[in-house]
Amino acid sequence: MKKEIKSNVSWVGKVDWELRHFHGHEYSTHKGSTYNSYLIQEEKTVLIDTVWSPFAEEFVENLAKEIDLQKIDYIIANHGEVDHSGALPALMERIPDTPIYCTANAVKSLKGQYHQDWNFQVVKTGDKLDIGNGKELIFVEMAMLHWPDSMATYLTKDNILFSNDAFGQHYATESLFNDLVDQCDLFYESMKYYANILVPFSQILRRKLDEVLALNLPIDIIATSHGVIWRDNPMQIVNKYVEWANDYQENQITIIYDTMWNGTKRLAEKIAEGIGLADPDVVVKIYNLPKSDVNDLITEVFKSKTVVLGSPTFSNSILHSVAGFIQLVKGLKFKNKKAAAFGCYGWSGEAVKVINGLLKDAGLHIIDDGFRNQWNPDEDQQAKALEYGMKIAKA
Ligand code: FEO
Repeated sequence: MKKEIKSNVSWVGKVDWELRHFHGHEYSTHKGSTYNSYLIQEEKTVLIDTVWSPFAEEFVENLAKEIDLQKIDYIIANHGEVDHSGALPALMERIPDTPIYCTANAVKSLKGQYHQDWNFQVVKTGDKLDIGNGKELIFVEMAMLHWPDSMATYLTKDNILFSNDAFGQHYATESLFNDLVDQCDLFYESMKYYANILVPFSQILRRKLDEVLALNLPIDIIATSHGVIWRDNPMQIVNKYVEWANDYQENQITIIYDTMWNGTKRLAEKIAEGIGLADPDVVVKIYNLPKSDVNDLITEVFKSKTVVLGSPTFSNSILHSVAGFIQLVKGLKFKNKKAAAFGCYGWSGEAVKVINGLLKDAGLHIIDDGFRNQWNPDEDQQAKALEYGMKIAKA
């Protein structure tokens, strides 16, 4: 279903209300997502991006109801990932000679996925494409946002930045625009998206934001490839990205643990109590890892100045849930975060040492050797766990 953004620019994407996992099962999408595709109808007709492959036929059929597909002059592929390029094979069967404008890396990713030698037109930052009526598309490479092949496309005169993944959210909405949706949901999903996908590229993003801002292009609308279109104060999400890309943290300490017989859980609660006693202003949150959504937890890690990880000793090591979670944290390359470890044990007691090793390897700053407790914590040990919490708060 085509929806008008401006008289000459329409949304022709797909709202996926049912999506609950993205990137296979790596990313939870509690609120679904959208695959935004855009149609520009000036003297030239331009299609920007498509949709995920399960919706390819539906997409092409819907598009064919809106326009004669043969009238599409240019296709812009801002990014080769299948959630945006997935309908290209079905579309290109209908219009095989239509030029596809994309980066050199996108030629690689599109050929690598679809094994087709389409009419690729390679563009780089600053290249322009005249689309008539005095309007141009200007391309800006956005390598690593989200893949090395990514770029953004700017439409002059209408001042629309088609930013692809950048500034997006996995958030299904029929309302289209940022001012028409629940703001808490919107900013939570925007932050979750940043924390789980873009954090490793913060340094690149800082440079890119500076580069884009230095172009001094007026931006009236940011049309992302997922979630809402930012038309009301679009720079608010750019400013959020500037904040988030600069080793973002809030006054929060997050305790994440797994437990077998609730001893490590008891430690988590006492450590939290100690943190609260030492610093009543700090936000303390406790999560039982297997009962939580890991992507929501990553969002909490993103907000935290300190992360406290707990596991009992199991098979001379730690529970796999904790090991897997720290691996996820490592991949995201968080900067400027402190960490601490704790856990119960019955016999050998390696868990705390193992956690500390993994946290250090993940680039977090370990505050000390951690807190270990043999068997279930008695009152004396609970008091010590509380003291350990106070130490974490002051670290
Ligand atoms: Fe939404 Fe990197 O694709």
